[in-house]
Amino acid sequence: MKVLITGKGGQLAWELEQLAPKNVQLLSCSAQDLDITDVDQVNHTIEQFQPNIVINAAAYTAVDKAETDTETAYAVNDLGSEYLALACKKISAKLIHVSTDFVFDGTKTTPYQTNDQVNPINVYGASKLAGDSKVNAILGNQAIIIRTAWVYSVNGNNFVKTMLRLMAEKEQLGIVYDQVGTPTWAKGLATMIWALVEKNQNTESTLDAAKILHWTDAGVCSWYDFAVAIQELAVEKGMLDKTIPVRPIPASAYPTPAQRPSFSVIDKQSAEQESGVETVHWRQQLSTMMDELKAN
Ligand SMILES: NC(=O)c1ccc[n+]([C@@H]2O[C@H](COP(=O)([O-])OP(=O)(O)OC[C@H]3O[C@@H](n4cnc5c(N)ncnc54)[C@H](OP(=O)(O)O)[C@@H]3O)[C@@H](O)[C@H]2O)c1
Repeated sequence: MKVLITGKGGQLAWELEQLAPKNVQLLSCSAQDLDITDVDQVNHTIEQFQPNIVINAAAYTAVDKAETDTETAYAVNDLGSEYLALACKKISAKLIHVSTDFVFDGTKTTPYQTNDQVNPINVYGASKLAGDSKVNAILGNQAIIIRTAWVYSVNGNNFVKTMLRLMAEKEQLGIVYDQVGTPTWAKGLATMIWALVEKNQNTESTLDAAKILHWTDAGVCSWYDFAVAIQELAVEKGMLDKTIPVRPIPASAYPTPAQRPSFSVIDKQSAEQESGVETVHWRQQLSTMMDELKAN
């Protein structure tokens, strides 16, 4: 089985590469190798390699910058996804396309289902939704769209690594308590994606069973809870030598260019059933990732 991954070097693509099953012939492409906004490069690479499955882990993920750099956000997240979907269609390859909880507005108070009404409240979310819609329209059941949230990994910049740095540098921190969601260790997401690929290898129809899946770790927390857990675990593991006061602050006290949903918990049952992989509680995943970070 041949699998092509876009976005090499990104958090998810990196974990996917680390965990690639031995029986998969993998081509992992960085933005330099394969710029998904370049239609000729997309067509050429996919025609040459003839993948059975393309995993699109490339994205414009700078949520705040997207508010002003709108054109680039749409070029990558919308147009780039469209080019990949069209190229997959030509050779009958399947596309596993990764998307975001930011397609929702966060006004619900119970976990978002895969068929809930979408209504992005920032440019990044809107650009991702535009790409998802193209993928869906072009490929239908030949694609699977996986929405995820709050992604972190030992590789790349993310909330966990930022907190560890700030907790070592600052006297105190104020962290937002009124935005609630679930963190996702990119390694757990990569494990679930490879399980989907493997199932597809054994049964031709697996990827056809559901078009949209939701995946994060298990449980619920605010950014404040997440930060407190990071500090507790870091002290326990000897990664920080002292604690600093971490205060809960409202999002209104930490204005950002992009508005963010106040509730973005998504229901993971669809992906659990489809892949056979169960979600693990976010705090346990965080602890394992921090062990990995410490060992690096
Ligand atoms: N990070 C999160 O918290 C989060 C939350 C929800 C959903 N997601 C989704 O999860 C997926 C993976 O996210 P991630 O955290 O792994 O992202 P990431 O670490 O920001 O990686 C994105 C990758 O895409 C590449 N890229 C950007 N523009 C490209 C282009 N034109 N052509 C090809 N590659 C390009 C980047 O390369 P350069 O670094 O060279 O630009 C980078 O390697 C994305 O679909 C994202 O939207 C992420």
